[in-house]
Amino acid sequence: MNIERLHSISPDAMDLLLLADPSEEVIHSYVHRGFCYAAYLNESLTGIYVLLPTRPQTIELVNIAVDDKCQGQGIGKKLVLHAIEESRKLHYHTIEIGTGNSSLPQLGLYQKCGFRITGIDHDFFTRHYSEPIFENGIQCRDMIRLSMDL
Ligand code: COA
Repeated sequence: MNIERLHSISPDAMDLLLLADPSEEVIHSYVHRGFCYAAYLNESLTGIYVLLPTRPQTIELVNIAVDDKCQGQGIGKKLVLHAIEESRKLHYHTIEIGTGNSSLPQLGLYQKCGFRITGIDHDFFTRHYSEPIFENGIQCRDMIRLSMDL
């Protein structure tokens, strides 16, 4: 698998970003301020992630997605580990990520990659998204915040 920096967002890339974030408007608000990386498998776009500097020395993995035909094969884990390594190379001291209280596989993935839970942003999703979101039979209301020292 080949992972490289993307400098513009094609419609295919936007389709992947929308897997992780239901709002194109929200995606547009961060994608051009951050660093976007794309993963290619046999030259086809398979995964994507976006790193966004948020505070001095802190960067956040704000979007990560793998094409749904290729999920469950270890690509997401490779992307998270690549994002951690890139953040180190960019000399950040802390990498953060937030995910929904209902995003059970993602909470598993991030903790397996070394992230620790640092807090909860209560009602983040009910405040920022107009449509209710349900996953795994659970309403997504709160953002679970995770972080790792680099
Ligand atoms: N509990 C514990 N661990 C779990 C789990 C669960 N319920 N579900 C999955 N995992 C683990 C897997 O076991 C695997 O760890 P392992 O390699 O140690 O076994 C790890 O999570 C990741 O699996 P992987 O195959 O690398 O993930 P993926 O390629 O399917 O990518 C996502 C993961 C989240 C990027 C992908 O599912 C996706 O694009 N989802 C839609 C977009 C999205 O939700 N993005 C995140 C927004 S916060």
